[in-house]
Order: sequence, then structure tokens, then C-alpha cells
Amino acid sequence: MPPTASQSSEPSLTAHILKDPLNPFPWYRMMREQYPVYYSREFHSWFITRYSDVQRVINDPLLFSSEQSIRSRPAGRVQQTTRTLLWTDPPRHRQLRSLINQAFTPRTIANLAPRVAEIVHSHLDQVASLGQMDVVKDLANPLPIIVIAELLGIPIQDQQQFKHWSDIIVSPARLQKKQAVIEMNNYFQMVVDRRRQHAQDDLISALLTAHIEGTYLTDAEILSFCRLLLVAGHETSTNLIGNALLTFDEHPSVFEELQAQPELLPGAIEEVIRYRTPIQRLRRAITVDTWIGEHHIKAGEIVSPVLGAANRDETLFTKPEVFDIHRTPNRHLGFGHGIHFCIGSSLARLETKVALEILLTRFASLKRISEVPLQHVASSFVYGVKSLPMTLQER
Ligand code: HEM
Repeated sequence: MPPTASQSSEPSLTAHILKDPLNPFPWYRMMREQYPVYYSREFHSWFITRYSDVQRVINDPLLFSSEQSIRSRPAGRVQQTTRTLLWTDPPRHRQLRSLINQAFTPRTIANLAPRVAEIVHSHLDQVASLGQMDVVKDLANPLPIIVIAELLGIPIQDQQQFKHWSDIIVSPARLQKKQAVIEMNNYFQMVVDRRRQHAQDDLISALLTAHIEGTYLTDAEILSFCRLLLVAGHETSTNLIGNALLTFDEHPSVFEELQAQPELLPGAIEEVIRYRTPIQRLRRAITVDTWIGEHHIKAGEIVSPVLGAANRDETLFTKPEVFDIHRTPNRHLGFGHGIHFCIGSSLARLETKVALEILLTRFASLKRISEVPLQHVASSFVYGVKSLPMTLQER
């Protein structure tokens, strides 16, 4: 697919983003202002960076298909995620989502709060007396995996194995990944068979009984949803917690304000999602030739709505480069929009709020060890740091 003549002579903006993944924001700004619909040779897709265009793309699943975007990936990649909710279009998406909603209810999530607090405290107990911890490796990484394992009803003795699989599944090692997916599928199939005989108070049992007029989820759909939960709900929440602590560290007055008024945390978390969006961009395939801005884009081409750029669009956000925990309204697109809006948003918000609240109240101070350089998570879709060592002072 040829880019327009004016663009072909431009330096590659997406190459700059790859070079400095923790600060793509100046490039996003330039793109929004000068090349809001930009063909990236590195990514073989059109980068869409203005809020209104991003919203249009993710709100129109018939014209901008999730399902077809995954089919057009290079052969052999991400095969196991096809047919999951995330990569399904209407009408099948509507059916799947309402079946899953019957099991994944706000009450199920809210009930987890005391257990999330327990997990956070037990992880902090192991490191608090050392005077320092890596908040990503020691807390933000294990927390969401344990929560998902418990939500699914995975017994404690199997959780280590579960963590091992999930680490491989979100890593770039492809061969190992295939093997881990097979092992995990076998494991989940066994759990599904057991729950079918003896239902328990867990998500898998609830998924087994969910139905619309007698239509139930198939075993394959349940297994693929279990895997999706792990992938979609693990790294994202980890990065949100890490991004929040990194941003608070850069804004010491915010840290103090939140210590004095923890009730401001929910607003602060929304602002972190806007300011350092954990999922920077999405992927869709165009189903019918269409115009986006001045560009006529052909059916079959891939567009990449950049949430991280939309979330800093000055037409929507006053002083978008400023981290402002009092920002209202804050209509960020960090959890997506429309039919694929993140089904785990309340879980992510809960885990992050509980973890941050405990850190802020338990420690008088929490400071990044700045001698250790920041290393970004190796993905152009995800924004986060691999590790974040901090010194701590208990109250
Ligand atoms: C969908 C972001 C946490 C499960 C999405 C989408 C975004 C997103 C942007 C839309 C994808 C698209 O339109 O193509 C995030 C962020 C999170 C987070 C930033 C944490 C900070 C979670 C958690 C879970 C989860 C904790 C579950 C345990 C899902 C699922 C979908 C989804 C299943 C697909 C929904 C659908 O296709 O209908 N998420 N997510 N997410 N998310 Fe999350």
C-alpha cells in the first residue's frame, strides 16, 4: 500500500517512537498536528492520532473490524487468540460478551477487595523491612496473576504453575508459548470438567451456567476466555500500577496530597491512565474503502488507533502534557470505547486502588532509586517499565 506523496518524503515518525518508547509524546503531538493519519512502514499500518478519529475508528466495528485485523497478521502469529471476545465482531461479539457479562459481574469484582488487600499486604510483608523493593517485580507483577487465578478458582497449589505459564504467554518466546498454551488448555479443560460435575463459587462455574435462551458457551470458548483474561488482565494492571508509582515519584507534591487525602486516588488513577496509557494503540482492519481525514484507505488495510496520542489531544484535554489528578472531566480512551470497552476495567481499577492505598498509608516515603535506568516493556503496544526499584520508609 503506497503512502501519499507528501508523506513518502517525511522522516519516519514511528521510528522515533520505537527509539524512545517511554517518551513517544512529542512525536504523537507532531503527528496529531501535521500527519494525523500517518502510514507507518515499520508497522504496516495507518497510525490514527487525533481523539475524534480514534473514537470514530473504535466506535464503528463494522467498518473497522477487530476480527479481520487478526486474520491479516503474519501466518503463525497469535493464532491462539482468534475467536476470543477481543478479536470477534458483531453479531457474535454481542452474544459472547453478554454470556461473559453474566459471570463477570460488578459484584464478583467488588467482592474481591478484601482478598486483594490481603495479597498486597502479604507481598509487602516480605520486603518492607529491607528498606527497598522493586514495586513492579515484587508487587505489581504477581498481584494481578494471583487475583485472576483466584477468580478462576485455581487452587493455591497450582498457582505457581499458573504463574509460570502466564509469564511465558506474555513473553516474546514463541516456541515456548505454543507449548505453554497447550499445557494451559489441558489444565483448564480439566478444571472445566471438574466444575461441570461439581460447581463452585468461581468464574469457571459461572461461565458454565451462563446461557441465552439455552445457548451456552462451548468449552473452547471458555478456555479461550480464560487465556484472554490472563493476557489482557495481567500485564495491563501491572503496568498501570508501575506507571502510577513512576508518575507519583516524578510529582512529589501529588504523592503527599494523596497520602493526606487517599479519597483522591480514583481520580489520580484515571489521570495516570490518560497520561501514561498502558495500552498505547489498538488494531483494526478496514472492511470497506473509506476516508479518514484526507486519506482514502482501502478495504483490508490495517489502522492503528493510538490511544496514547488521543489521550493527549489538546482539543479534548486542557494542558494535556500536565499530570493533573483533579482533571474533570477526564474522558480518556485508555480502556477503549464502544463494544470492546475493557471488560476488566473495574478489576484493574480495584487492584490499582487497593495496592496504591496500602503503599501510601503503610510507607511514609517511597522514592525511586534513580541510579537504576528505566527499562521499558518490550512492546510497541504496551507502555510500562520492566522494573521500578524504590526505597521505602515504614511509618
Ligand atoms: C479490552 C485496556 C485490564 C480484560 C480492553 C481494551 C482496552 C483495554 C484498551 C479494548 C481493546 C479493543 O478495543 O481492541 C485495559 C487496561 C487495563 C485492562 C488499560 C488495566 C489498566 C484488564 C483486566 C482484564 C481485562 C484486569 C480482565 C481480568 C479485557 C477483555 C477485553 C478488554 C476481556 C476484551 C473486551 C471485548 O472485546 O469486548 N482492555 N485493560 N482488561 N480487556 Fe482490558
